[in-house]
Amino acid sequence: MAENNQTAEAARVAAKPKPAVPGAAKPAAPGGAKPAVSGAAKPTAPQSGVYKPPVDRPDSNPYKDSRINALNGWFSERFYMVIPIVDYLKKKEVPQHRHSVWYYFGGLTLFFFILQILTGLLLMQYYKPTEAEAFASFVFIQQKVPFGWLIRQVHAWSANGMILMAFIHMFSTFFMKAYRKPRELMWVSGFVLFVLSLGFGFTGYLLPWNELAFFATQVGTEVPKVAPGGAFLVSILRGGEEISGETLTRMFSMHVVLLPGILMIVLAAHLMLVQILGTSAPIGYKESGRITGYEKFFPDFLAKDVIGWLVGFALLIYLSIVFPWGIGVKANALAPAPVGIKPEWYFWGQFLLLKDFSFPGGELVAILLFTSAAIVWALVPFIDKKASREEKSPYFTMFGLFLCIAFLVYTFRVFLLYGF
Ligand code: HEM
Repeated sequence: MAENNQTAEAARVAAKPKPAVPGAAKPAAPGGAKPAVSGAAKPTAPQSGVYKPPVDRPDSNPYKDSRINALNGWFSERFYMVIPIVDYLKKKEVPQHRHSVWYYFGGLTLFFFILQILTGLLLMQYYKPTEAEAFASFVFIQQKVPFGWLIRQVHAWSANGMILMAFIHMFSTFFMKAYRKPRELMWVSGFVLFVLSLGFGFTGYLLPWNELAFFATQVGTEVPKVAPGGAFLVSILRGGEEISGETLTRMFSMHVVLLPGILMIVLAAHLMLVQILGTSAPIGYKESGRITGYEKFFPDFLAKDVIGWLVGFALLIYLSIVFPWGIGVKANALAPAPVGIKPEWYFWGQFLLLKDFSFPGGELVAILLFTSAAIVWALVPFIDKKASREEKSPYFTMFGLFLCIAFLVYTFRVFLLYGF
């Protein structure tokens, strides 16, 4: 767009008289300046606040005499403040090397999040967040609303997809040390996004108000009680002592208002930092010539991103049709808890850790262990001084490997013990 604008600008100030071409872009007349009379020599147009990016590319515009250029000129004149941003995006480049594939996972996480918002908005048209109606409204969406089943299934699968992509994105940026100076806040904002994504999963789980969700939330919200001040936190989460309709209302408002609101603000900061600071390359790659080239973010990298999104979308539809999530039976607080109750897969690690530490005082130790590891993880860019000096930091790589393997082993153990 900026390039086209430059052409329009160049055409405007050109001294040569030119006959008007039908369909050609009209010269801009900001501030009410009169358009040049056809065939007359153009005056040097008074330049209003229209932004003129520095010309550093060949001035070729394939749309010079087309309607596209006219439309472009119309928008450029009104939204000139975004021209530097578009111009910047056109200049942004992504380094290419043998690990470049990992650069696509942030975009995939974003794509699944966008799907969550869209499908969530549709579900909200029929969902009723009350103890009496929640389960029935879910059955109604699944069985009566046209394509309701598909929207619900895509929402459930895409939630899992988003968290899985966020896991992969987080570990890949960790191992590439993409958090190192000056990207510290990219990492910290990313960490906050990750915690918020888990919050989405946790609060959304109760919404169908079925037996499994009811008891899993009961177990899950019990955990903080062992920590000092935890009981207070639990009563806030539950809206009382026990899981009830109050809890459902709270989880619902967190799921559809509080968490999306915070996530969008943090996401905006994360993406803005990504654009401003650009994409990093692993330590030493530039110096050792392992960068094979640079790819334009717009349109080349973005086009490949979109291909990844389409593949992800096709997979979601496949999973939604072939492996649909069940509805279960309506929650009943008086019924005994079903055997083998467990949370969603992304909480399996913490779940089993607590079970492994189920000796007196053990749960508090497990919570402390877990919380300390999470704090170190969140602050890693400020602790890993070697990476900031562009030196290899193998101890941090080992720490990341340890967490990654521990998570996988624990998750697999829960799978062996309880099934999926
Ligand atoms: C809702 C969750 C998230 C979304 C939508 C998101 C989105 C993105 C996007 C689109 C990019 C640019 C492309 C790429 O490098 O993959 C990016 C880069 C980055 N993200 Fe995230 N992200 C999320 C979560 C996280 C998490 C959990 C972390 C780490 C704790 C993180 C850390 C980073 C870092 C360090 C970069 C820079 C990569 C580089 O320069 O090489 N992000 N993110």
